[in-house]
Amino acid sequence: TSAQIGVTGLAVMGSNLARNFARNGYTVAVHNRSAAKTHALIKEHGHEGDFIAAETAKDFVQALERPRRLVVMVKAGGATDAVIEEFAPLLEPGDMIIDGGNAHFADTRRREAALREQGIHFVGAGISGGEEGALNGPSIMPGGPVESYDSLGPMLEKISAKAADGAPCVTHVGPDGAGHFVKMVHNGIEYADMQLIGEAYQLLRDVAGYTPAQIAEIFRTWNTGRLDSYLIEITAEVLAHVDEATGKPFVDVVVDQAEQKGTGRWTVQIALDLGVPVSGIAEAVFARSLSGHAALRDASRSLAGPKATPLSAAEAGAFADRVEQALYASKIVSYTQGFHEIDAARDEYDWNIDLGKVASIWRGGCIIRAAFLDRIRAAYDARPDLPSLLSDETFAQEIAAAQDDWREVLVAATRQGVPTPGFAAALAYYDALRAERLPAALTQGQRDFFGAHTYRRVDREGSFHTLWGQGRGEVEA
Ligand code: 6PG
Repeated sequence: TSAQIGVTGLAVMGSNLARNFARNGYTVAVHNRSAAKTHALIKEHGHEGDFIAAETAKDFVQALERPRRLVVMVKAGGATDAVIEEFAPLLEPGDMIIDGGNAHFADTRRREAALREQGIHFVGAGISGGEEGALNGPSIMPGGPVESYDSLGPMLEKISAKAADGAPCVTHVGPDGAGHFVKMVHNGIEYADMQLIGEAYQLLRDVAGYTPAQIAEIFRTWNTGRLDSYLIEITAEVLAHVDEATGKPFVDVVVDQAEQKGTGRWTVQIALDLGVPVSGIAEAVFARSLSGHAALRDASRSLAGPKATPLSAAEAGAFADRVEQALYASKIVSYTQGFHEIDAARDEYDWNIDLGKVASIWRGGCIIRAAFLDRIRAAYDARPDLPSLLSDETFAQEIAAAQDDWREVLVAATRQGVPTPGFAAALAYYDALRAERLPAALTQGQRDFFGAHTYRRVDREGSFHTLWGQGRGEVEA
């Protein structure tokens, strides 16, 4: 017998993905650098389906039917290159290497181009949903040559999560690095969602005076409405959890320094290169990095803050409703920014990504899965050339309805000294986009003054320079 798919790299994500293929009726060749993991997988889960354990790279490749489909699940970076170097010489034209790690899309582009020379299809595939998703149905974002999807796509569709309407949460996102790019932005949005939820929690706690257990209840209620999402659901679980050792709320015994593996940071770095304002995602990355500066925070604890007067119990409930509005409006803005970044990359790299499809495959399986994503799908399906999510009439109306509360929440946060960089950046983005005039005109004037950098006029075509030191006459540049 031969295997329809192979998985090399059997840490948790790799083994769970292999088991998912096997549970769906595929024969799966499994391989790991140290064979102990391979044997452990067969021993514990061999009964779940048809596995072929391969000890060597050669055995592994020989176990696969052609065209070979070889899924690499190793740590992104040098390990991926090492695996490619090991396997590529053993493969034949038409075979596929699928990289399911969180690779940087630029690495994926480089690898795809190099392997194309040998006729090997390299498919960089973003996979979201953590360990649980890998086993029971992740959201999958494959890039690479479109031909590869003909034979790979149906298998991925089978093992992927399904949205509420039954659609598989996988599509051919676009060529070369498009899949990993979209996964990167998914993670950037994930950071922003988490930061906004964190700010909502802190406001409910410090301004409204609720306990973590009460806030868990509030999140549970929100999760039955338009904020219905995996992240809100797990937030309620985390907040309701009580530490066994101390009897304190779990959230109070965890060190408040957030870590990151880097995909959120990449989202911001690339956005800077593409010139896309992803301020909400950037604030989420910065908030994590600020939290980690322990010495700086210690040195700053005695800095003056405002006199805080928490709300009365009677006011707290109304405030919680306002926070829901602020959270929802800010969420619309982060998704607007994330989709703008994908849109810009689509133009830059000629990727022809369908934004409605992207929203569609994020509806299930992934970390940011949410009812909300079906609305984004609908917005892009109705108008594929939508200039921005904020131009969608429904979203614009919802923000219009939320904005007074959103502003009030920021007033309260500012008065009480609760940091809300995500909410604030989102509102600033919204207000800047709607502004009739921006102070960018003044910036241009300053640039022209000190560096003769020129400016354009509102009333005439062309570039101009004012002779600031010499009578202030204007010349055409
Ligand atoms: C997913 C997650 C996954 C991982 C993040 C965590 O989509 O399943 O995004 O990829 O959990 O990389 O990222 P940080 O460690 O950077 O928070």
